[in-house]
Amino acid sequence: MTTDLEQQLSTLQQEANDAIATLRSLEDLEQFRVSYLGKKGKLSKILGGMGKLSTADRPRIGALANQVKTVLQTGIDERTVALQDAKIQAQLEAETLDVSMPGTYLPQGRVHPINSIIDQITDIFVGLGYTVASGPEIEEDYYNFEALNFLPDHPARDMQDTLYLPNGNMMRTHTSNTQIRYMENHEPPLRALSTGRCYRRDTVDATHAAVFHQIEFFAVDKNITFTDLRGTIQLFLEALFGDIEVRLRPSYFPFTEPSAEVDVRWKGKWLEVLGCGMIDPNVLKAVGYDPEVYSGFAAGLGVERLAMVQSQIDDIRRLYASDMRFLKQF
Ligand code: DAH
Repeated sequence: MTTDLEQQLSTLQQEANDAIATLRSLEDLEQFRVSYLGKKGKLSKILGGMGKLSTADRPRIGALANQVKTVLQTGIDERTVALQDAKIQAQLEAETLDVSMPGTYLPQGRVHPINSIIDQITDIFVGLGYTVASGPEIEEDYYNFEALNFLPDHPARDMQDTLYLPNGNMMRTHTSNTQIRYMENHEPPLRALSTGRCYRRDTVDATHAAVFHQIEFFAVDKNITFTDLRGTIQLFLEALFGDIEVRLRPSYFPFTEPSAEVDVRWKGKWLEVLGCGMIDPNVLKAVGYDPEVYSGFAAGLGVERLAMVQSQIDDIRRLYASDMRFLKQF
């Protein structure tokens, strides 16, 4: 005969099984376990009525109660595993990396027009077998002037408005200082170029900057003639600007004899781009070379000037304004 308790137990099992399937989280599941299988849970409550059972019914109902308990526990365990799996699955899906998504945009840097032209010119001369040399920006009078045949109080010093330091040194006014420093430490034959910042007490305007860049190139060997200089300049300017008309005008620099200034024909006008000449015998003597044995040429050019010509920039100050709208064009 089916007792009331048996009825309650099977209802409980049925109801619990249905409920387990609806539980969506591990927390809900734990609450459910306590409410059914806990000390004060529904199963305990039903079993509380066992005392009133006849001895004939008790073992059967006891066994049924155990079975219900096992079934519920198994149901809970299975649901636990299922919910844990689902949780891991959800996490994996949430953390999936979609490698086909477009990346975040990072602004890309560019080479500044000054550096770009320095790189181009350096490449041209390295291609001709020149070595890259460098010298200090803070310079002694000897290297900036004296060894370059600027005599003390020589008016030629006025050609360059010098920024002096309190100790009598100066900010170099040109890269020609590297000629002396390089030749002092090397024996001919030599070919070198050097690039760097120069400083002058100049009023800043569209074509003048107080800090600017020069490139110096020079060669010393036996039998170097003005023709070598002329050919090198032609080759260099054509490599930089393409097919271009070049002319030399006689000029004066203390450290070269003879000296010339070089113009290129640009947009229908002659534009001065560099100074050059045969290295003055006094300069060769200053670095310990015998001018009867060796000769050489040297040239110096303004980098900003060339960048302005090459990139059609109308005002030198644009090169230093760090204005991204300007720089992004290059
Ligand atoms: N140092 C000169 C200047 O800054 C430029 C120059 C002219 C350099 C003639 C040279 C040269 O090497 O031969 O104005």
